[in-house]
Amino acid sequence: MDINDLLQNLREALEITPDNDKLRAHLAQTLLTAGKAEEATTEYKRVLETSPRDSKSKLGLAKAYSAMQQWSAAIVILEDLHKQGPPDHDVHLLYSRVLLQEGSNGKAMDIYEELLKRWPDRPDADLDEQFRVTGQGPEPDYDDEDYEDDGPPGDLRASDLIVKTDVSFADVGGMQGVKDEISMKIIQPLLHPDLYKAYGKKIGGGILLYGPPGCGKTHIARATAGEIKATFISMGISDVLDMWIGKSERNMHRVFEVARKNAPCVLFIDEIDALGANRSHMRQSAGSHVINQFLTEMDGIDADNEGLLIIGATNMPWHIDPAFRRPGRFDRTIFVPPPDAEGRESILEILLKSKPTKDVDLRTIAKKTEHFSGADLKAVIDIAIEEKLRSAMKTGVPEPMTTKDLLKGAGTHKATTREWFITAKNYALYANESGLYDEILKYTK
Ligand SMILES: Nc1ncnc2c1ncn2[C@@H]1O[C@H](COP(=O)(O)OP(=O)(O)OP(=O)(O)O)[C@@H](O)[C@H]1O
Ligand SMILES: [Mg+2]
Repeated sequence: MDINDLLQNLREALEITPDNDKLRAHLAQTLLTAGKAEEATTEYKRVLETSPRDSKSKLGLAKAYSAMQQWSAAIVILEDLHKQGPPDHDVHLLYSRVLLQEGSNGKAMDIYEELLKRWPDRPDADLDEQFRVTGQGPEPDYDDEDYEDDGPPGDLRASDLIVKTDVSFADVGGMQGVKDEISMKIIQPLLHPDLYKAYGKKIGGGILLYGPPGCGKTHIARATAGEIKATFISMGISDVLDMWIGKSERNMHRVFEVARKNAPCVLFIDEIDALGANRSHMRQSAGSHVINQFLTEMDGIDADNEGLLIIGATNMPWHIDPAFRRPGRFDRTIFVPPPDAEGRESILEILLKSKPTKDVDLRTIAKKTEHFSGADLKAVIDIAIEEKLRSAMKTGVPEPMTTKDLLKGAGTHKATTREWFITAKNYALYANESGLYDEILKYTK
């Protein structure tokens, strides 16, 4: 029978027995199958008027709404069905899908997680793809003590996390303020542990570095580890995140465990804003589970963070959840500005140390490179070197770099820090709670 004939028959039958809810529900379902979602909602609503507890019709109505892309109407019903139970695979599935459509990714993931726990053998390919799960159900519980160094297969390995660094403070020009702060938090405490203990002060802690690109945030974090001969672990948020349900939290925990086992340790977290920013974009950002895991690890409630210096770096401090700055977490927020003339001079000296030069007047170059970052100065030197190579290939005689060469390089390179300040100044002017960005204003004056 043609579906339209079937619908016609059902309607005629209902005219004779209008109170037959079963028949009406059947009509509604047939309408939905025929793609007539709007008519289906009318019929489902009529059924629910007399049988408000008919959960099958409720689910039908939610399906009809979602077919019409009326997500929030569908969510209201599904939320209710989910809460009232009994657990139903279809309800979980549709609920998760609709939440995802509506943009509530975190909730959608929670519901899907629940589904997998209840029906481990009935995953959904689309949602799997969305949330990057295997469909093999939740991860087993784990205990760190079971595996000494490298955890179960597939876990982040200590040997992959720990990076060798051969730079120390001597390789960092300027940045005295940052050096002092780091010294107070980890260098002095390691030198005078008894003194710190007497005052009940911990060795280590959290420091948040922010500022324009290329001004040495990553560089000084590495140098800190080199300076105190500590382990250096650099954690990229994407390394931790690109994983399955529950695995991100586990990875986060794993990184901290490796850091604690290898104390004293500098744990560096680059682009820490990625942890908190864009919560709605699940694929690129962490979601609340991972943030909470991170904060728990930082608080060190279940574990001892003694000897752990956690350095976070960002170009976008305004995207960072204020919860990150509570005492015991990143309680020092430090602005890393472009180097001043003196800083530039010493950075140039460091960068030119192993390069062929002749009578270079560092002070003059430093004067002519206002607003240049360390990375910009590096670029200037690269430009000058290329120029020298070019002429050496012509003449066959390699010549050392001179002041003139470097000034010429500086003339062709534009400081890359300016753009950052345009954005930063707006935040400093209009979102400067508790004077957090006063330093930016001071600098831009
Ligand atoms: N104070 C400095 N002393 C010596 N070299 C520096 C300094 N600042 C920057 N540099 C040089 O510039 C390069 C880039 O610096 P770095 O990567 O630390 O910048 P960053 O602040 O982390 O930038 P981003 O915000 O883009 O991550 C370094 O590898 C280093 O060679
Ligand atoms: Mg960096």
